[in-house]
Amino acid sequence: MIKLEMRKMLHTIAALTDLGNEINSSKDFDEVIRTSLHTCLGTLAIPKGAIARYSAKPRQLKIVAAKGLAGVVGQKIELGVDEVAKIAARTRPIKLTAERNGLAHFVRRNQEMFNKLRAHLAVPMIVQGELIGVIYLSEKLSGEAFSDDDLTIINTIARHIGLAFYNQRLIVSLKRRAEENRRLYKEMRQVYHDVVRAFGSAIDLKDAYTKGHSDRVARYSEAIAREMGLSGEELENIGVAGYLHDIGKITVDRAIINNPRPLTEREFKELNKHAVTGYEILANIRHPWQEIAYMTKCHHEKVDGTGYPQGLRGDEIPLGSRIVTLADSFDAMMTDRPYRVRLPLEKALNDVERNTNSQFDARVVTAFCRLLLKELNGASRERIIIPMIGLKFDRAQIVSQLEAIISQFEEISLAV
Ligand SMILES: [Fe+2]
Repeated sequence: MIKLEMRKMLHTIAALTDLGNEINSSKDFDEVIRTSLHTCLGTLAIPKGAIARYSAKPRQLKIVAAKGLAGVVGQKIELGVDEVAKIAARTRPIKLTAERNGLAHFVRRNQEMFNKLRAHLAVPMIVQGELIGVIYLSEKLSGEAFSDDDLTIINTIARHIGLAFYNQRLIVSLKRRAEENRRLYKEMRQVYHDVVRAFGSAIDLKDAYTKGHSDRVARYSEAIAREMGLSGEELENIGVAGYLHDIGKITVDRAIINNPRPLTEREFKELNKHAVTGYEILANIRHPWQEIAYMTKCHHEKVDGTGYPQGLRGDEIPLGSRIVTLADSFDAMMTDRPYRVRLPLEKALNDVERNTNSQFDARVVTAFCRLLLKELNGASRERIIIPMIGLKFDRAQIVSQLEAIISQFEEISLAV
């Protein structure tokens, strides 16, 4: 007798281990529940059974898995508020056939359904005091009554399965929340980019000659940064710095910005303040704006240390600023200004070449020339700079000029 009990206990432990493994597996959840039911029935030699999942809205138990019973999956059992409370308070399996089980009305009302389920026991699955579902079990194959040990085993299994349901519900709600957060984050970024674009247009509106300048500098800067192997947020921030590089000009007198004559020293001083003013405007805004603010501050620095406002040299200047500097200057050369008409592309590239290693960073210049070459050869994914130039030029001449600049500075830029 003791031997038999021992064997039964070992068998139960093995079944519970199987059940634990099953529940923790990454299999399809419905499959997990089906297998769990089979394990539960197999452990105690019960031929028929079903698992119902509880939902609060509407208050019902829905059969999600069954064994030995045809056409019951999907069937629903409605519950009253007090019935939910009564079932959730039960710590032991409920004998549906017993007359004084405290749920007489519920059993009577659903008698037809329970007959269909061959239900002898109803085992509530409760997690943290909350009704998760019910397992319905028929009588044992042997016809013997369920012993106290059997009921304990059934309760343990019901707890396991109940936890599986509970965890799955948590995962689903977490996924939904994560999805919602992703959507909100995307919307927030959209708003952020719209604000940046609005700022960019506000700066350009102040200057009669620079319509679309901020937008082009942003696009050029991003394209150069991508060519240099940058990606993700770093790339995005450089684009934003491109948009906002001249934001400080909103505090500079319009007469100075649009002055067609050479500026006086006082006017230059006033205009040059825009780098620091821009920094002050942006630095008060949270990360990643502080980085963008500093890039904006440094967009008139020169790699040889002769720029402003700090006279930084080489790598002391943020890479984003060195990129924006070239994009800004190139666009200025390619558009009409109060004091001159735009330059031919060949001449602009000569200027870039002449100022490499003094105003411009050689690595940025070679990346920029590689990008232009790719756009001319049709090797780039999209053409960003060439369509904006809007000038006629000798393609072969420009290609050889770009190749010459690249070969002249490539070695230096690799050595750095
Ligand atoms: Fe500027």
